[in-house]
Amino acid sequence: MLSMKFSEYLAPFEGDLRNECLRRLGSNLSDFSGMKEDVLRSFDLYRRGRLRTVQEFYRLAVSKGIIDLTVRANPIAPWLAENICEEIEGRCVIDVGCCDGTFTVFYAINHPRTNFVGIDLSEDALVAAKRRAEDHSVTNTSWVCADAMTLDAPFTRADTVIAQHSLYQMLPWDGHESLFLERLAPFVRQDSKIVIAGNRRRLNERKYNGYELCNYRTEKTFDPNIERELSYEIVVFRRV
Ligand SMILES: C[S@@+](CC[C@H](N)C(=O)[O-])C[C@H]1O[C@@H](n2cnc3c(N)ncnc32)[C@H](O)[C@@H]1O
Repeated sequence: MLSMKFSEYLAPFEGDLRNECLRRLGSNLSDFSGMKEDVLRSFDLYRRGRLRTVQEFYRLAVSKGIIDLTVRANPIAPWLAENICEEIEGRCVIDVGCCDGTFTVFYAINHPRTNFVGIDLSEDALVAAKRRAEDHSVTNTSWVCADAMTLDAPFTRADTVIAQHSLYQMLPWDGHESLFLERLAPFVRQDSKIVIAGNRRRLNERKYNGYELCNYRTEKTFDPNIERELSYEIVVFRRV
């Protein structure tokens, strides 16, 4: 049972996302070739790290409040946040690729006795995450600026690791699922859960080296911002 629903935490944005992005990006648009023709498509390319560096992209997107806006405008965000919340167990949770902490802080509100560590490459995103935690008077979060795929000396081990919309960005090539799980190994103990969520699932196996599938949730939604139906998955593995 959640103490706070996602819609109470973050009011949905019901305006025209494209126009609002254009308005917020303003003169910065000239720096981003392609942005003018199709803001959202380019935004997606930046998100996937295909253009410039991930850090540069998030510096701009966070400073203009674009991340927050796209989460608020995404009709699946409440389903993702609330279902991931139900998968969380244990005293220590790591959120890899936490960005500006929009989701991490929501989890922390609903699991007040659990410590959440958000890891991200973008310092700017983590500054925003820290501010978000303070705004919600949340004290069970901490933030680490690092490349989650190359950390080999674990600073802590988690009972649950969450990777939401970050797998494809951290290792952007096909056939990388088992490598992703392998790279997360320093963060997990025997029996830890790995919760991978997003709409580009490739985790088709029931078993990966050292992990077993323990839950799978899926939901389809029509996203009016991109005018198509998307299917989202939450895939849960346990370290065995
Ligand atoms: C698409 S965002 C997802 C943010 C958030 N989890 C969500 O679902 O809204 C991906 C995040 O992963 C971060 N990221 C990408 N590669 C990373 C890496 N190797 N290590 C840590 N963070 C990384 C990016 O900086 C970005 O904030």
